[in-house]
This record gives sequence, structure tokens and C-alpha cells, in this order.
Amino acid sequence: MTKLKIYVTRDQPGTALNNLGKLYDIKVNLEDRPVSKDELITQAKGVAGIIACVGDRIDGEVMDASGGSLKAICNAIVGYDNVDIKAATERGIYVTNTPGVLTETVADLTFGLILAVSRRIAESDRYIRSGNWRGWGPKQFLGFDVHGKTLGIIGLGRIGVAIARRARGFNMNLLYFDVRRNTDMEKELGLQFTDVENVLKNSDFVSVHVPLIPQTRHLIDKKELEMMKETAFLINTSRGPVINEKALVQALKDGKIRGAGLDVWDPEPPSADNPLLKMDNVVTLPHIASASVETRTKMIDMAIENLNAILDGKIPPHLINKDVIKVRPPSS
Ligand code: DGY
Repeated sequence: MTKLKIYVTRDQPGTALNNLGKLYDIKVNLEDRPVSKDELITQAKGVAGIIACVGDRIDGEVMDASGGSLKAICNAIVGYDNVDIKAATERGIYVTNTPGVLTETVADLTFGLILAVSRRIAESDRYIRSGNWRGWGPKQFLGFDVHGKTLGIIGLGRIGVAIARRARGFNMNLLYFDVRRNTDMEKELGLQFTDVENVLKNSDFVSVHVPLIPQTRHLIDKKELEMMKETAFLINTSRGPVINEKALVQALKDGKIRGAGLDVWDPEPPSADNPLLKMDNVVTLPHIASASVETRTKMIDMAIENLNAILDGKIPPHLINKDVIKVRPPSS
């Protein structure tokens, strides 16, 4: 029997893809960069499934390039702003993601950014490597304490909660805003619910954890940055476009906030002359919040579990576009 064709947009850690190759006729992009739209169009021809990642723009044109064979787009990531969900639903294509498995790993890294930017860890690392350190000094690399400060969380989903738990260990005060109030977590973690404006005005660290949807694009813009304390730090491990990067550059230049910790960019990768890459009060990472061996292994396993379910005619465990079931019921 001929095997179904699957395109995998990025090579993955572990042995998951070797096993996938036993079930399907797979093609994997082995280059360490996202694939372009043209490549996606070429590779989509005749495939039953695409395993996708950050940066793959999968729109109706890519879907149609399959010639009607495409049934599954399985993200090996939790975000799904890379896929045109409406277009997929209209075409009866199931779209899945990997919720839950990366929560703790992303929260670890987010907390790492909070510590790195406030205690000047990356900057100090660059300094000692430069060979210029002449020995201990009481005025060297003075940063700011994290413990006892106020952390403002915008978006209290799974990751927001996991960060709040870590912050409790640092004896931090916790403010949050979410479109849905979570009174259970308020009681358990001592979180205080308020609006975005109050989170911005009263926090020493503001950490953003919202999905990228039209309503959250530039959620943090000039006006919001100006509401923050001049001594505050902004942390982003969600999606780059949630912050207006130009406004952030200006706010940092004007001393409207003290610093930033950024794992995500708009666009990705940032251009080499992006001013944020030159600022010592900004810690910059190449979108690695979920990048632990354990978690990335679970993410690809989960994407494959979703793919197998769809191609076996079942409802996958992590279906995003539930309406697709009405367009193409699972067994068809
Ligand atoms: C995701 O899963 O959406 C992350 O941004 C990449 O790990």
C-alpha cells in the first residue's frame, strides 16, 4: 500500500521522525531556518499532513497547493498564529497544537529572563569574557532585587499561573489581568485581579502571556509603556507582535522603563541593526522559551499523536478548529 505523504517543516530532536518515517512517506526540511511560503507551496503538493512550527505561514494558498489531499496541519508548538484557522476549517483541514507540555519550561525561561535582566546576568557574562575585569568591586554591575517586588502578569493562562507559582517562591506581590478572572488561583497564589492599566502602573516586572490574535497585536504600545514605572522591566515570551517594538525602543531610549527581557520578536529573526540588540539593559533570546530536550521531545510526540489520530479518522486530542468536524466529520 502506498504510504501517505507528510511534510515536516523542521527537523526535530530525538527519534520521533525516524518512527514517523515507518508509517508515512515523510519529507523533512533539514535546514535550520523556517521554510518560505514558496517552499511550502511546493512541498504541500499531494501531502496528507504537515507538521509545522513557528514561522511557517500556512494560509489558504498553501492548503490549496496540496490539491485537496491535505487533511491535517499539526503544529509541534502551542501557538497557532502561523496557520489561517478559518481557511483550514473551510477546507475541512484539522489543525492541532501542543498545549500543556511546555508550560513549566516556558515559565522557567521567563523567570530566567526576569532574573537575567534585573541582575544584569547577560551583561556581566559579556564583560568577564571581554577580559576587562580587574577584580571584585562594590559598584560593579549593580542590579535590582527581584524578591519582594511586584510582578504583573498579563494573561493568566497555564503559563501565567506557572510563573505566578515561581514568583511566590521569591516572595513577590502578584497582580494580573486576564479576560477571564480566576478566583481559584487568586486564593491559592495570592494573585490580585485588576485591569491592564493598573498592572502596568503598579508592577516592577510586567510579563505578557497572551496568544497573538488581532486584539492582542500591539497590546503593549507607546501609551502602555508610558504607564509603566520608570524603574520597571518588561518581559515577553509570548509573541513579538504583542509589543510594538518601535515604541519599546523609544521607551528604553527615553528611560520610560528600565529594561526588557525578550525571547520573541517582530519579525523573527530581528534584523542585525535592530537597536534592541545593542542595548545593555535588554536581554535578548532567539525564541527558546520551550527549548529543553524534555519538552521539545514531548512537543513533537504530541504533534505526531494528533497527526495519527486525524489520519486514522479520529478526533485528535488537541484540535484547535473544532468546527472542522461539521465540515469534514472524522472518519471521512
Ligand atoms: C510555541 O510553542 O508556540 C512556542 O512559541 C515555541 O515553543
